Amino acid sequence: MVQGAREQGFYPYFRPINRSWGTEVEVAGRRLIMIGSNDYLGLSHDPRVLEATAQALRRWGSGTGGSRFLCGNLTLHEALEERLATFVGKKKAVVHATGFTTNLGAIACLLTAQDVIVCDRENHASIFEGCQASRARLIPFAHNDAAAAARKLALARQKNLNGCLLLITEGVFSMSGDMAPLDELVKLKKVYPDLLLYLDDAHGLGVMGRQGRGTADHFGLTSQVDFIMGTFSKALASIGGFIAADDEAVLEYLRHHSKPLIFSAALPASNAATVLACLDILDQNPERVARLWEITRRVHAGYREIGLVTKHSKTPIIPIYIGAEEKAFFFAREMFDHGVFALPAIYPAVPRGQAVIRTAFMSTHKERQIQYVLEVLAKLAKKHRIRACDLDEPEPFVERGGFSATAANPSGTSASLAGD
Ligand SMILES: Cc1ncc(COP(=O)(O)O)c(C=O)c1O
Repeated sequence: MVQGAREQGFYPYFRPINRSWGTEVEVAGRRLIMIGSNDYLGLSHDPRVLEATAQALRRWGSGTGGSRFLCGNLTLHEALEERLATFVGKKKAVVHATGFTTNLGAIACLLTAQDVIVCDRENHASIFEGCQASRARLIPFAHNDAAAAARKLALARQKNLNGCLLLITEGVFSMSGDMAPLDELVKLKKVYPDLLLYLDDAHGLGVMGRQGRGTADHFGLTSQVDFIMGTFSKALASIGGFIAADDEAVLEYLRHHSKPLIFSAALPASNAATVLACLDILDQNPERVARLWEITRRVHAGYREIGLVTKHSKTPIIPIYIGAEEKAFFFAREMFDHGVFALPAIYPAVPRGQAVIRTAFMSTHKERQIQYVLEVLAKLAKKHRIRACDLDEPEPFVERGGFSATAANPSGTSASLAGD
């Protein structure tokens, strides 16, 4: 596939970006509108963020010179941990150098071969890597299906009487843009009081809930979620990751047993400072998140008008369903030729034969950019016959899950899109 795509000139990955303005990038001398980035709030180019980053760079230097366990632990890391814990509503947090290694290190060291992990099938690769490294028994359940999770928990309990039981889900799923039914998953804790819930909120942080506090905050269920994991590589405009919890002893254990934390270099100060500056902006400028949701509603409506199939997405991550991988590659190439940068997601990122073009919008996109993207998509969707009417899809949008503004989220930053 890769070789064939290369030979035919439509291999879409590893495209070198020569310059970025956030919502636009320069590739091979051409300026394109970026609609594939996870920089949801467009903070990676905010002057306040850049200034904080530069100051930290001058004070601590460009690298940390070691792992946090040894010489690389900075006061800034500890300030960031405190700030993140407060932000997501937990007592403590532990920062790692990436989101991937946060999942890998945390899951691997928190569980043993005697334990059971019940895991959404569409969870991120880093979660599965962590599960595998832990050697716990892994039982996947059908995506976003709380009833299926309940059945798997019953099975797990039947087979394993004493081990620890952990359920892992993402908050907002990275490819499909749909949300976990967290309210239904939390109810399972009534049936299994020892069940622990682990939420990877890589794509919910900065997007969902009050001032971007995340998916658990959106549902008003923060206290019911035992572990909240997040990354800095999306809305927080940097790189790095953290895990937060109320159980301080467990996090202290993790701090001393997470292999990537002990045996890999610490997050550079400039990245930690970027995240702190982003959190300041979220506190001071909640309209940034509100604007992201305005744009999200606008784009969902635009896609619906064109007839694009976006499945269950209700967030700024909006996949355009294509189907065959080759077709997705062709489609992405034509978007690129029209000046729009977005990438196909193919197996194993999505189920086989269900390729999508993953689009994601930022709060800094301008109306003229959105208008242009919609015009391009309307033209190409007709040409490539990917509209709902071409695909025999009864409905371009299928309602699923309880996605609506909640009492805990009166700001409506992640309000239902049903009112479009
Ligand atoms: C759901 C999810 N978890 C974890 C990660 C890993 O995060 P990072 O890019 O910070 O390593 C990603 C990254 O794509 C992700 O989408």
